[in-house]
Amino acid sequence: MTHAVTSQVVILDYGSQYTQLITRRVREVEVYSVLLPGDASFKRVFEENDPTAIILSGGPNSVHVKGAPSVPDGFWEECEKRQIPVLGICYGMQLIVHCLGGKVEGLGKGEFGRMPVVDIPTHTKLFGEDIEPQNVWMSHGDEATVLPEGFKCIGRSEKGCVVAIEHETKNLYGLQYHPEVTHSEKGMRTLKHFLFNIAKCERSWSMANVLEEQIQIVKEKVGETDHVICALSGGVDSCVAATLVHRAIGDRLHCCFVDNGLLRYKEAERVMEMFKGELHLPVDCVDITEKMLSELKGVTDPERKRKIIGKEFIECFKEYKKTVEKKTGIVPKFLVQGTLYPDVIESCPPPGSDQKHSHTIKSHHNVGGLPKELGFELIEPLRVLFKDEVRRLGKIMDVPRNFVARHPFPGPGLAVRILGDVTENDALETLRLVDEIYINAIKEFGLYDEIWQAFAVHLPIKSVGVQGDQRSHSHVVGLRAITSNDGMTADWYPFDPKFLQEVSNRITNQVRAVNRVVYDITSKPPSTIEWE
Ligand code: XMP
Repeated sequence: MTHAVTSQVVILDYGSQYTQLITRRVREVEVYSVLLPGDASFKRVFEENDPTAIILSGGPNSVHVKGAPSVPDGFWEECEKRQIPVLGICYGMQLIVHCLGGKVEGLGKGEFGRMPVVDIPTHTKLFGEDIEPQNVWMSHGDEATVLPEGFKCIGRSEKGCVVAIEHETKNLYGLQYHPEVTHSEKGMRTLKHFLFNIAKCERSWSMANVLEEQIQIVKEKVGETDHVICALSGGVDSCVAATLVHRAIGDRLHCCFVDNGLLRYKEAERVMEMFKGELHLPVDCVDITEKMLSELKGVTDPERKRKIIGKEFIECFKEYKKTVEKKTGIVPKFLVQGTLYPDVIESCPPPGSDQKHSHTIKSHHNVGGLPKELGFELIEPLRVLFKDEVRRLGKIMDVPRNFVARHPFPGPGLAVRILGDVTENDALETLRLVDEIYINAIKEFGLYDEIWQAFAVHLPIKSVGVQGDQRSHSHVVGLRAITSNDGMTADWYPFDPKFLQEVSNRITNQVRAVNRVVYDITSKPPSTIEWE
């Protein structure tokens, strides 16, 4: 997939919630890793990916269930032939035991949560010098009761279950616990020992290499007279992608930033200043506020709002394509998109679901997700990267830190944070002021980087209050702050009450239209992050 690396770890995904984390952990120590579905073909695993080492992930299944995912035919023989070390984690370890002639049983014991591993022998290949008992994170129902020939137990749980195994002569290893989670004290040491001392992986995955390689790819793909366009959303991904492409082809890149009238306080000015002033990107700001707000007038249904906004955006982009054609005399052929690795990973479907591989694509429309009918070829320089890697890549291209660490912002903007008609009651203006006060306070208290996303919401109700000794009948705003890894699940952020008190005071004192502030204490699920 990428020729800049000299070692590559293949992780086969059997559906554990931690598979992406394993992939990231391996990359954190500068070894490139790819995540393939657990039932990937022999050809895909060995020929297309040429692994230096293989990790079999955990998963929710039992090896005994009909259709439980396994390795492709010829897998073990090929690993032995090519001397590829294999580490099975949780379900992956059970798969090793099951496939190679041992026994995995569900004895109803199960072990969940943090617990110590004991009985580590003095000489093991997998633990190296780490022979003292260590706390690890366990989550299993089944257990290995008989080990296949040639394997020995190199660690037990306090209940006596086999939790670590290795083959005496072959390069096969298994851990019943999750070394990739931070609750496993020495998990990272064990993983590193496996990667560097056993598999002899080389550290060749760096953002500097990615940058160089991707620039080369863009140069090769885009012909010398071709033009490329990119929709900048003000988010990290499109900005980093555009900056990279700009380095490759210069001003044959044309960026468009759409002010749809639903942006945050001074957002258009601020991001345009950064794109132009600091990153020197060729960017046009297209203001469609008037059209957008007239289309949204009177609309209260959240889905209709989203559809209208999406449609207007596409119309605007079609126009932009024509503008570029007029300016350059050439129809732009390519479109830059900030697609990331989690968007393209295929996950292994649960057995019995009759599903083929499903792509985990965001269901939201996004400024990056333009329809095929626009007739562009895609350039996706971030396709192999996780979000934290995109931030690092941005950093080495001098994208300002306060920009790469920004919270996500939804494509439909404040429209999904104003419940009801966005054009009524000066809701946009009120929300912009409240949001700005709230976010500034979060920054001032040093909490911005701890929070995944924070914002204010404008509610379509009024409540009674007293402001300046007078009865008031004004708006209620909600504040939301959440922690999350990927936005798929989220927890509300437990602010200190003093912080909430301060913010509430500032808002009600500075924004005349608001006399009540509430804090949203709902996780996702059951709610979503945005209110609409
Ligand atoms: P929800 O509200 O679905 O949001 O829990 C999850 C994450 O996605 C963002 N979001 C969007 N992003 N276009 C986007 O680009 C959209 O239509 C959209 N809707 C929600 C949301 O801000 C959160 O980070």
